[in-house]
Amino acid sequence: MDGQKLLYIETFGCQMNVSDSEKIATLLQECDYHPTSDVSRANLIILNTCSVRAKAEQKVYHYLDRFKRAKREKQQLLLAVGGCVAQQEGERLLERVPWLDLVFGTHNLHLLPEMVRAAERGERRAEVRFIDNDIRLDLFPRGDEGRGISRFVTVMQGCDNFCSYCIVPYVRGREISRRSTEVIAEIRSAVATGTKEVTLLGQNVNSYGLKSQDEVSYPQLLREISAIDGLERIRFTTSHPKDISPELIACFAELPKVCGHIHLPAQAGSDRVLARMNRGYTRAQYLEKVAALKAARSDILITGDMIVGFPGETEDDFCETLSLMEEVRYADLFSFAYSVRPGTSAAALADDISRIEKQERLSRLQALQRTLTLECNRRFVGTVLRVLVEGPSKRGDQLFGRTDGNRGVNFTADRSIIGSMVDVRIVRAFQNSLLGELS
Ligand code: SAH
Ligand code: SF4
Ligand code: F3S
Repeated sequence: MDGQKLLYIETFGCQMNVSDSEKIATLLQECDYHPTSDVSRANLIILNTCSVRAKAEQKVYHYLDRFKRAKREKQQLLLAVGGCVAQQEGERLLERVPWLDLVFGTHNLHLLPEMVRAAERGERRAEVRFIDNDIRLDLFPRGDEGRGISRFVTVMQGCDNFCSYCIVPYVRGREISRRSTEVIAEIRSAVATGTKEVTLLGQNVNSYGLKSQDEVSYPQLLREISAIDGLERIRFTTSHPKDISPELIACFAELPKVCGHIHLPAQAGSDRVLARMNRGYTRAQYLEKVAALKAARSDILITGDMIVGFPGETEDDFCETLSLMEEVRYADLFSFAYSVRPGTSAAALADDISRIEKQERLSRLQALQRTLTLECNRRFVGTVLRVLVEGPSKRGDQLFGRTDGNRGVNFTADRSIIGSMVDVRIVRAFQNSLLGELS
């Protein structure tokens, strides 16, 4: 196109990064960069990175190697790394990768337009300073067409929990809550342009507001968001089990817009491992919270994260993870082999479970989860569920939507119903989705 500059963003990691990438795209419109999905046409390539496990970090270096040639062939191409690997490595990345132009940390998104202009003049820069005030959280993502039916809204960032295996507190900094007035304003303006569902984002959403005297509590924030006319559904992630309060549980019972799904990572089923992970709860306490959630909302679906092969995890410990899964009956579970992260307290422990053993435990865990997921999905066959229609299905010949419990449903209907809530009768259950028909 005639002189227009094109921006290609590759996003790794969690929803926070997905949301940050939307903000980056909005910010860079200011210096005339427009998004493209064709990397070969890009004038600026940004890798928005994740360092939660070693594999995620290595991926970044593979991508950087891949773009080395492109940089040689296209003189004016700019290459930038943002996100959690950028935060972790900072200036070192510029030294290690001589063809890299820019490094920006997780607190420095707002500096990007200025940094890109400097890079256009040939300046190489790394900005990874932590900025511990809430102003930087106020970057509204693009409010335009198409992707607006369901939106992410950041309510807090950072983490103070320091689970012993986890790098997130080091790369995202301390917990900071965004002002509730800003959160409400963003949701109101999204709803005005067609948004029906919001997913509130934070590394630990349920500690929202706890650190500031004059901010509302998380349950109160949910009540205020619930009162927004035109908004149909509220989701949030991630919740930390230790911060699930009776007031929050009551929201699931009392606020119809709060969806019947919670992502509540346990990480392990054995008290010995939970203590060594510094998770701040026991198996019994976790199960008490699950029971209270199910009592408040009998149809609530629970998903989670689990780590296998944490230092010192015995076969007995691992079997407790499996038995916890059976007790909770997770609808879905993300599971990971333990990966040592530099600077975390667990890095001082011997990584004594072999790669093969970790892999074997992971396979056993995933086999069990497949049966639990299928069991969960099969329960819906024959029932009618309310579905928010998000768009065409992956294969393109049907429509795709989500149930209140966050199950994906494919069904045949006219595209004109995209963006609305419809009743769908479930006719078949698969591992990863449900098949339905308009009821
Ligand atoms: N704030 C969220 C997400 C953290 S990162 C939470 O507390 O749940 C997402 C998941 O990655 C974690 O829940 C954990 O299961 C996994 N994870 C984090 N560090 C890891 C490590 N060093 N090795 C393997 N998995 C890890
Ligand atoms: Fe990491 Fe634990 Fe914080 Fe989650 S709660 S981001 S696992 S330190
Ligand atoms: Fe990864 Fe950073 Fe998210 S480490 S999981 S992208 S907070």
